[in-house]
Amino acid sequence: MHYPYQIKNLAEYHAAYQRSIEDPAAFWASVAEHFTWRKKWDTTLEWNFNEPDVKWFQGGKLNITENCLDRHLEKLGNQPAIIWEPNAPDEQPRVITYKKLHEKVCQFTQVLKNNGVKKGDRVCLYMGMIPELAIAVLACARMGAIHSVVFGGFSAQSISDRLQDAGAEFIVTCDGAFRGGKDIPLKNIIDDALIGNQTIKKVIVCTRTRTPVSMIKGRDVWWEDEMKQVEEQGITYVEAEEMDAEDPLFILYTSGSTGKPKGVVHTCGGYMVYANYTFVNVFQYQPGQIHFCTADIGWITGHTYITYGPLSAGATTLIFEGIPTYPNAGRFWDIIDKHRVNIFYTAPTAIRSLMAFGNAPLEGKDLSTLEVLGTVGEPINEEAWHWYHEQVGKKRCPIVDTWWQTETGGCLISNLAGVTPEKPSWATLPMPGVQLLLVDENGNEKLAEGDETISGNLCIKAPWPSILRTTYGDHERCRINYFATYPGLYFTGDGALRDKDGFYRITGRVDDVLNVSGHRIGTAEVENAINMHAGVVESAVVGFPHPVKGQAIYAFIIYQGSHQQNTHGSDDLIKSDILQTVTRVIGAIAKPDKIQLVSGLPKTRSGKIMRRILRKIAEGETDNLGDTTTLLDPGVVEEIMNGKL
Ligand code: WTA
Repeated sequence: MHYPYQIKNLAEYHAAYQRSIEDPAAFWASVAEHFTWRKKWDTTLEWNFNEPDVKWFQGGKLNITENCLDRHLEKLGNQPAIIWEPNAPDEQPRVITYKKLHEKVCQFTQVLKNNGVKKGDRVCLYMGMIPELAIAVLACARMGAIHSVVFGGFSAQSISDRLQDAGAEFIVTCDGAFRGGKDIPLKNIIDDALIGNQTIKKVIVCTRTRTPVSMIKGRDVWWEDEMKQVEEQGITYVEAEEMDAEDPLFILYTSGSTGKPKGVVHTCGGYMVYANYTFVNVFQYQPGQIHFCTADIGWITGHTYITYGPLSAGATTLIFEGIPTYPNAGRFWDIIDKHRVNIFYTAPTAIRSLMAFGNAPLEGKDLSTLEVLGTVGEPINEEAWHWYHEQVGKKRCPIVDTWWQTETGGCLISNLAGVTPEKPSWATLPMPGVQLLLVDENGNEKLAEGDETISGNLCIKAPWPSILRTTYGDHERCRINYFATYPGLYFTGDGALRDKDGFYRITGRVDDVLNVSGHRIGTAEVENAINMHAGVVESAVVGFPHPVKGQAIYAFIIYQGSHQQNTHGSDDLIKSDILQTVTRVIGAIAKPDKIQLVSGLPKTRSGKIMRRILRKIAEGETDNLGDTTTLLDPGVVEEIMNGKL
């Protein structure tokens, strides 16, 4: 494939950026024309951030899978679309060509139809990292069903909440998923999520681990049986549904500052164009290269840069089922060596955890095929950046530091590999079409005087094609969360610095959202989960710096002595019960690293918890707690400080 919109040098970047700002509609129309549309759009862009109401390529008709599959068949039919590397290194990898992937997606589209799925229905995908997950995603897109992938680490309760919020009637899952030495019983977790559920009509179960599962008559069917039936009918092609550019493509739940995760909605046309554009430009993808993004398809990174971005560009995407440290800390390097990987994209957490094993796991691994490295999900510290650059990239490979969010659909700030300058721990320059500004708490734009570096809350002035359109079922929530803090602007929730060159450095969330190992978790969400434990009176959760995870969770909890504590319990038992509760309610990813039982929390006279103080205590910065005179009971602070873990 040829990408006429691929930026080749710094001057081209500046020119593209300029054009994109002067006339966004013309700029994006010139990119979008290189895709397959059944009918060309009438209006490129209409928008109003106050509602918010954003429409790209209105009147355009397309199906994203025709862009990810059909249009490649003639030239790339026999090229690998997916290389799958299993959890255990002694199991055989699988290679799926574009032709084969197209056929499988068509067949599974038929399976969905046979099971009663209709255009616009919501389908929940709760699967491990196997090619069938990508096939299920694409089959939903092909028939116009809205997929909602739920990461395999979420609990039954979380799944149940998401099913209800999305009004999903269909689930595709696996018997289990291999993750390192563990076997996660996905179908059993789904069964727990479905206790008492009256709305789910069908659960399609794909075989992976042979974990024993209970199959309920009339509701549960096997993926393999359903596919066999379609294959036996000789079906290898199913026509793609014609979608409006603004029809929803998927819902992906993400944490915010309130207790309940939000279903971020992306639509077909704009998301496709932007996913592809950023994939081709940020990574500077060249035809034939092998792209390895280590994210899970359950997160936005896996949607955009394992699935839709690479496949729409006719790339070869590597899907890895396992974890970086199984069976040992050389696993990623073995995969790069074995599959001759050219582009490697991972999270700073993974880099830091592998760095801790020293350089021995890299010895004897041939990493000479690597050309581009990338990071995503959290700020990367300079030490980790240099280790990545020297030990993995052998000082030959540019590192792209890509800043973006579930809500943005694709990268908004990043250097373009080898094309625009890189600067360790800085995400650097905005992508074409992305108009950034920094504001103070009152929403006033901050502007630099001379060469100074300024800091502020990161906002965006105008829409790019893959901006979220709404939060599912609750448009007002979308407005309040993203567009009401600073009227007329999209507020990212992040703080940032901007230097004299216009480079941006993301400093982290300024709202009540934590970023633990690159996973977004709302403090209110964790507090809600903790508060569900019978003995908990009240809790307050804050983040603190962690050498590997970036941020970790510190919970201050008021616990009322119960039977267990008074008779044979201990603080340790109480704490493990609380951890168990969080695991049940959200999933193990939200477990606090530290729990401190306290008798009171610092509150203002109006009853508001002073998180600023707790954050400082958790960070170990107890010398400078700021003003505590407005506290209802200043004594409580001392007590908490004395008991600090
Ligand atoms: C953070 C992940 C610094 C940021 C794609 C953002 C980053 C949140 C970077 C979104 C980066 C993401 N440098 N921070 N390169 N990339 N973040 O929705 O705080 O899971 O708001 O999307 O991750 O997380 P999400």
